[in-house]
Amino acid sequence: MMQMKTAFTNLIFALLMLFGYGVMPSFNCPPKCGCEQKANGYSVNCANQGLKTPINPNDLPDDTFELDLSDNAIQTIKNNAFKRKNLTKIKRLLLSGNELEKIEPDAFSGLNRLTKLDLSRNKLFLLDEAVFRKLRNIRIIDVSNNHMFKLNKTQFSGCKNLRIINLSSNRLTLLPEGLFNSLGNLQKM
Ligand SMILES: *[C@@H]1O[C@H](CO)[C@@H](O)[C@H](O)[C@H]1NC(C)=O
Ligand SMILES: *[C@@H]1O[C@H](CO)[C@@H](O)[C@H](O)[C@H]1NC(C)=O
Ligand SMILES: *[C@@H]1O[C@H](CO)[C@@H](O)[C@H](O)[C@H]1NC(C)=O
Repeated sequence: MMQMKTAFTNLIFALLMLFGYGVMPSFNCPPKCGCEQKANGYSVNCANQGLKTPINPNDLPDDTFELDLSDNAIQTIKNNAFKRKNLTKIKRLLLSGNELEKIEPDAFSGLNRLTKLDLSRNKLFLLDEAVFRKLRNIRIIDVSNNHMFKLNKTQFSGCKNLRIINLSSNRLTLLPEGLFNSLGNLQKM
């Protein structure tokens, strides 16, 4: 009797597992990160983990809408760092409080839906003029608390939806003429 009960329990368990695997979309959470499912997708929190490089995009859930990499030790963001097929929903990328000195020109390629990019509290002193070029939907760029001393006139061209650029606490003495041409929506600096 006892044995039968165990077998039965095992069968139920096996069925549940099968059913579970069949229904659950395949999903990984990157090591050292927490993944929380919200109405619009996954919020992936990798803040304060001593990371020296950004998360491998292959480790992120397909419907990641927010990636928080704040307060780590990331120095460089290489070209295509967040690019992967099917990873198309990222809206918020938080890189505040790292040791960023270098962002390669195509670092943010593939992030076509990005609306907020936080680069505050880093060590940036110069940004390639193409870095933000393809961020057509970006609304907020925060570069406050860096060492920026120069901006290229075309730095934000292409960012047609930009509303807020925070450049406070940098070493900028003057902004190039024409920097904000074509930024009709700009509300705050
Ligand atoms: C992308 O999504 C499609 C459709 O859901 C799927 O068939 C394909 O395997 C996915 N590709 C990758 C690289 O995840
Ligand atoms: C801006 O970028 C263009 C194209 O790369 C370059 O030719 C120009 O020297 C840059 N201007 C400044 C002020 O850095
Ligand atoms: C800009 O950044 C500074 C310093 O991080 C912050 O105090 C300020 O509130 C920010 N301004 C806007 C408009 O977000």
